[in-house]
Amino acid sequence: MLIHSAAQLLTLAGPPQRGQHLGSLSIIEDGAVLLEGERIAVVGPSPELLARYPDAPRLDASGKVVMPGFVDPHTHAIWGGDRAVEFELKLEGKTYLEILQSGGGILSTVTATRQASTASLIAQTRARLSQSFRHGTTTIEVKTGYGLDTDTELRMLDALLALHQEGPWEIIPTFLGAHAVAPEYKGDPQGYTDHICKVMLPALAQWWQAHQGEISQPFVDVFCETGAFDLEQSRQILTAAKQLGFPLKVHADEFDNLGGSSLAVSLGAASADHLVTTSAADIQALGRSDTVAVGLPGTPFGLAHQEYTPAKAILEAGGTLALASDLNPGTTWCENLQTTLAIACRYMKLTPAQAIAAATVNSAAALGMQDRLGTLEADKQADLLILDVPDYRHLGYRYGINLVHTVIKKGMTFPIMQELE
Ligand code: NIG
Ligand code: FE
Repeated sequence: MLIHSAAQLLTLAGPPQRGQHLGSLSIIEDGAVLLEGERIAVVGPSPELLARYPDAPRLDASGKVVMPGFVDPHTHAIWGGDRAVEFELKLEGKTYLEILQSGGGILSTVTATRQASTASLIAQTRARLSQSFRHGTTTIEVKTGYGLDTDTELRMLDALLALHQEGPWEIIPTFLGAHAVAPEYKGDPQGYTDHICKVMLPALAQWWQAHQGEISQPFVDVFCETGAFDLEQSRQILTAAKQLGFPLKVHADEFDNLGGSSLAVSLGAASADHLVTTSAADIQALGRSDTVAVGLPGTPFGLAHQEYTPAKAILEAGGTLALASDLNPGTTWCENLQTTLAIACRYMKLTPAQAIAAATVNSAAALGMQDRLGTLEADKQADLLILDVPDYRHLGYRYGINLVHTVIKKGMTFPIMQELE
């Protein structure tokens, strides 16, 4: 198929965009892209490709923007129930960590998730994945972490595998057994840490052995935070995971700076995520490393906090900055990554071009998948968006509606915008 006549074809060609290079969209005006099966075959000016491939089926993108599908590298999209009541409590003045410490927060979602059958978890999650896909996310990382016992955590992985196979979305799984201290270990975070290392991670390794080739290898992530896992416990879990061969991610500096981002760097984690209270020294460490810095601006927005990931400092330090939704029931239930970009432009002070690069080529790098995803270049996977806008700056500028006209995943076309009849 030949998609042609795009007002702007954003190729984002090239490697992940470090530091001040962030925002290189490599735009072809009146651009075209030829897809062959699941791959991109050729990218170039429309007149040239229309002449070279006269027989290819055509899709006219006149007046529209064509760009790589969004890669959302940090979500907690699988859970049971909701926390609407806590939203109200927070508005009345309770803090996120206060609610967590009184047995609510993550733990109330753990109760609902444990009670949900696998079929019900799949159904609840499918609705979210479908929304996220319709809004342009063609690849989505999803974390477990609302089970906190081996059985439920593995059931969550089973559900993610089933949803991945169902598609059209592509799921990258992450094991987050260290999301909170399990209720069975209340007051004993070290006991739960040891349990994760001795029992849960080996069970994860067995699960992966049974399902290798069916989905990408799970990352292992830890919520390194006051009230969750301290720096040493985080190091213990991540080191054990690394020894088992799993790639790593870290929830670092969401509320308190415990050193989680430097830990991520020292262990060669693919990403360090949240980074709101990150120290200057930690930012320098990230900037020198290949660990991608993932900002999740929907989270402070969802919590009505004032502090956001310091994008400028991260870019000045030479870091690779990505964006993700953090989709979860506690801090930010928003499937629309376009909204995340709009928030990032306003509160992280990114330009639309920077936000777009952070949510495509750089977010692919946060998953270690920059060779396959995130740009429109020959041989990359055919994951594209056609936006019903004439200029890429409408992303970020406009919010609260869906600008996606068509999603193309692995070469298959999904029309999103339909005229009212
Ligand atoms: O990324 N930080 C921990 N996890 C989520 C919140 C999860 C929840 O509250 O259910 C986050 O913000
Ligand atoms: Fe998170």
